[in-house]
Order: sequence, then C-alpha cells, then structure tokens
Amino acid sequence: MATMKAVRFNAYGGPEVLVLEEAPLPQPGADEVLVRVLAAGVNPLDWKVRAGHVREWLPHRLPLIPGWDVSGIVEAMGANATGFKKGDEVYGMLDFGRDGAYAEFVAARPRELAPKPWSIDHLQAGGVPLAALTAWQALFDSGGLIAGQSVLIHGAAGGVGHYAVQMAKWKGARVIGTASASNAAFLRELGADQVIDYRSTRFEEAVRGVDVVLDTRGGEVQQRSWQVLKKGGILVATLGIASQEAPDAHGVRGVGILVHPDPEQLAQIAALIDAGKLRAVISTVLPLAEAARAHQLSEAGHVRGKIVLMVRE
Ligand SMILES: NC(=O)c1ccc[n+]([C@@H]2O[C@H](COP(=O)([O-])OP(=O)(O)OC[C@H]3O[C@@H](n4cnc5c(N)ncnc54)[C@H](OP(=O)(O)O)[C@@H]3O)[C@@H](O)[C@H]2O)c1
Repeated sequence: MATMKAVRFNAYGGPEVLVLEEAPLPQPGADEVLVRVLAAGVNPLDWKVRAGHVREWLPHRLPLIPGWDVSGIVEAMGANATGFKKGDEVYGMLDFGRDGAYAEFVAARPRELAPKPWSIDHLQAGGVPLAALTAWQALFDSGGLIAGQSVLIHGAAGGVGHYAVQMAKWKGARVIGTASASNAAFLRELGADQVIDYRSTRFEEAVRGVDVVLDTRGGEVQQRSWQVLKKGGILVATLGIASQEAPDAHGVRGVGILVHPDPEQLAQIAALIDAGKLRAVISTVLPLAEAARAHQLSEAGHVRGKIVLMVRE
C-alpha cells in the first residue's frame, strides 16, 4: 500500500496525541482532486476536534488527520473531476468531516478549492481560506455590511478578525476592533478606525449604535454586545447565539454562522490579495512535525493573524 507522512491522532486528548507517522496515501474518488500539500493552515477548530470538544456535532472516525486549510499543487484528478488539471496551484477549505491537510497529500472536492493567489507563496496562502471565508460570510452574507455602516469586530487581531478588519474597511465601513494593547498598532495598520483594549476598557462604554457586531468570542462578550447595536442591527457569531431573548429585548438580531466552502468567494478573496487590498498575516510558521506546538499556541488564544504548518519546502 502506498503511504505518505501525516500527522494523525488515534484518540481524543491533548496536543501529545498528535503523531507524525506513515498513513495510507488518499485515493481520490471519481469526483475528487488529489492535492500535494505544501502548507496547512491551523485553525482553532483543529484543536477543538483533537480534544473531542466538538465530537457531538462533528463525529469522526479515528485515526483522523486534522487541518482543513490547504495550499498546494494538484497531483491527480479523479475520472469525473473537473475545473483543475495536474500541476495547478490551488488553495482551499476542506470538508470538516473528512481527513484534513496535516499530510503530504489530501483528497478534496473541486468546489472546496480555487486557484491560489499568485502574489503570495503557499505558506501565506495556507493561512487564508477558512478564516477569510468566515470573515466574508459573517460580514457580507449574514451581516449585510455595506459602505457607510459601522462594525465592531471582537478578536480583531486573530485569524478571522484580521481578515474581517481589512474586508470591512475595503467595503467602506467604519471599523472598530477589540484586542489587547499590544495589537493596537497592528490593527490600525490594517485599517481599523478605532481599537479598544479589552483589558483596560469596557467596549460597551466606548461604542454605541453600530450596524454590525462580528462576535468571535461568545460568552459575556456576546452578552455585553447587544447594547452597542443600533435598533435593527445584527450580531453575527462564530460560536453561536446563547439566547434569542437578549437580541429581542434590544430590538436587534443575532445569527450564528458555520463557514462553508465557496469557490467564488475564494476567487474574490484571491483577487483582493493580488490587488494588494487584503493581507494574510502569518505570525508563525512551523514544520509539520511541530503540529502539537502549533495547537498549543492556538489554544492559548492570542495568535496574531495565522499559524501555518510547512508540509514541504
Ligand atoms: N462558526 C464558524 O464557522 C467559525 C469559523 C472560524 C472560526 N470560528 C471560531 O471563532 C473563534 C475565533 O477564531 P479565530 O481563528 O479568529 O481565532 P484565533 O485566531 O485563535 O483568535 C485569536 C485572537 O483572539 C484575541 N482575543 C483573545 N481574547 C480576546 C478578548 N477577550 N477580546 C478580544 N479579542 C480577544 C487575541 O487577541 P489578543 O492577543 O490581543 O488578546 C488573538 O488575536 C474560534 O473560537 C473559532 O473556533 C468559528
């Protein structure tokens, strides 16, 4: 049996359950594409799956290869797969229900992929798809953000947040972000009009009447956010809406989202990157063998931009 190097886990647990080992080489189905992975982006979902936190709604058969962000090169096409050819440089977000990209190869569906932005390398591109699609879908598909409106972005320096700040600015919105003080200059550079240090300032005392809140934190941050929206405003949450009573009481709406692959949106995101209007900020690159370290860093909750695993130099 042909094999490849992959990071997998055989039981839910801490970062130490991640093992770099030989795993079967994926055989692409008739409708699938086999991608040679050059870089795999790291998202909080990766360690939540590994720890078993989401096994109720996202059951997996173990062993599992985590990592649902990929940048790489098309190695082979299934008999009925269309849209790409061997040698194409692609990036994309993979189906959460299947093996991911912490491996030398991954099988993907064509609709999970798009041509990689030409102006950045694979290490940067690997840090784009899931977080950038989340920001896009939250701000524009669910939040309906348009030019002239204002948006409060919680967790603005993180994976989702740093893309959201730039996309909202590009759209022509007024952008307010929360982050610790060490990220204030970073966020201003990305285009934030106002940065609130969540450690020293209660954001609800500094912000009023925004059209959209992008909530990547949940919990009490969400509870305190309803009051900063104008009547008819909307809070879009990446970690669900705790109660529908609070938004009703404030005359606002709350929606939870689950990011989905979208090749057209990936192409639009690539175009923004290639036009110099969107930057992928990769704060840490680690070799595949250090996936456990990447999970520890992500789990600590203070990553600036993205962490990416280098699968092949
Ligand atoms: N529903 C979906 O489809 C979906 C999609 C993507 C992500 N998510 C979820 O959304 C969350 C965010 O994802 P992510 O990739 O952006 O995470 P991330 O990159 O790990 O976020 C890290 C950022 O959070 C900031 N942060 C920590 N505590 C904060 C606080 N109290 N207030 C404001 N900012 C704070 C940190 O800034 P400082 O260092 O300045 O503290 C850091 O920059 C995760 O829980 C993820 O699982 C869900």
